[in-house]
Amino acid sequence: MTLSLNEKFLKNYVTEEDIKDISGEIYKAQTTLTEKSGAGNAFLGWLDLPENYDKEEFARIKKAAEKIRKSCDVFVVIGIGGSYLGARAAIEFIRTPYYNNLKKKETPDIYFAGNSISSSALANILRICEGRDICVNVVSKSGTTTEPAVAFRVFRDLLEKKYGKDGARERIFATTDKAKGTLKSFSNDMGYETFVVPDDVGGRFSVLTAVGLLPIAVAGVDIDAMMEGARDSMLACEKKDVNDNNALRYAAIRNILYRKSKTTEMLVAYEPCAQMFCEWWKQLYGESEGKDGKGIFPSSAIFSTDLHSLGQYIQDGPRHMFETVLDIKESKDTVIIPHDPDNIDKLNFLSGKELHYVNQTAMLGTLFAHSDGKVPNLVIELKNRSSYSFGYMAYFFEYACAVSGYTLKVNPFNQPGVESYKKNMFALLGKEGYENLRKELLDRMQ
Ligand code: PA5
Repeated sequence: MTLSLNEKFLKNYVTEEDIKDISGEIYKAQTTLTEKSGAGNAFLGWLDLPENYDKEEFARIKKAAEKIRKSCDVFVVIGIGGSYLGARAAIEFIRTPYYNNLKKKETPDIYFAGNSISSSALANILRICEGRDICVNVVSKSGTTTEPAVAFRVFRDLLEKKYGKDGARERIFATTDKAKGTLKSFSNDMGYETFVVPDDVGGRFSVLTAVGLLPIAVAGVDIDAMMEGARDSMLACEKKDVNDNNALRYAAIRNILYRKSKTTEMLVAYEPCAQMFCEWWKQLYGESEGKDGKGIFPSSAIFSTDLHSLGQYIQDGPRHMFETVLDIKESKDTVIIPHDPDNIDKLNFLSGKELHYVNQTAMLGTLFAHSDGKVPNLVIELKNRSSYSFGYMAYFFEYACAVSGYTLKVNPFNQPGVESYKKNMFALLGKEGYENLRKELLDRMQ
């Protein structure tokens, strides 16, 4: 079993009766999704993507990844939100958060730029690139997002100075809309190789498109296995039984808890390599559900690390929270705790034990503690950190998110709220067309 739910620590909060009561709504939401009859139905391309992806482009992604691997030491992926989180999450989860520090790897270092407007963040990556061969993948569906557009301008300038326009052309890869947008027309003019963000796939659902797949493939991850995992997950999600479909059941559980005033969900993992996956998950659920005055607030933590910072709040603070614990069953690595004949630190009760066993035991102890603290805990058991499992899990969360959003009666596929800060920023920066708003904002500052 790649992924399963363990509801033992939910017993006092979600009853079988609750599941029965909500199941009609869940099936309705699932039907809305599969019949493509709900709000945002123009953005359901991700639904059958694991089967109906562009095979020609997939082969081109693998070829480009090979070319990138051969021609650079540093691969810079420029994008923000859905245009970078999935790739970074997958690389850190499947390989390691220390990927760039691995001494013996046959793949380039990978840095993510254009996901903030920090001078230092960009300058640091530029410093890292000094004296090294660089390739760039600029990722933007709209092709107009300010953060990546600014970073791309900086890197394009660098590459053209370093390699000349022709040389830079061989090193710049653009992932964007198939026909429209500034980035697409610019890439065509410049002759960059381009990959497509399908029209009907929103940024936060795009990890299994070229958006995620190119950087993931450059990192040496098996993207065939990832798509296979996603396909098997898709088949499992198609089942129409809340007792035999983990995605439906997860969507049901979170809506039940939300209705019982559990308004914050914390995705918890006991592996630091899952930190960026948690960020990806937060965007997926936050942007999909947080609208119309509704939605569970998605937060995350890495335990046991954050038990030493957030543990007190979770155990004893306001009871508005539930935890979804990602339990990764197998560890990729083995660390045995050595024996100390003098037992100076009094840790000989752990001698010879595997560190992963101690981590798993810490999880069990925490589940009991947080249950005693009246925090509902759902455990999602994932077999391992393989490419296959990642694809399986990513699709599971996407499908559950869509069903959960429809159950909440929101459009899970738009993000109108994201525009507000952009308009204000453009106005304050003096962009043409924003003169009235600029005046209004400046007046408000008086
Ligand atoms: O999920 C989304 O739609 C957003 O997070 C976008 O991915 C993000 O704003 C970046 O947009 P774009 O790819 O158009 O640059």
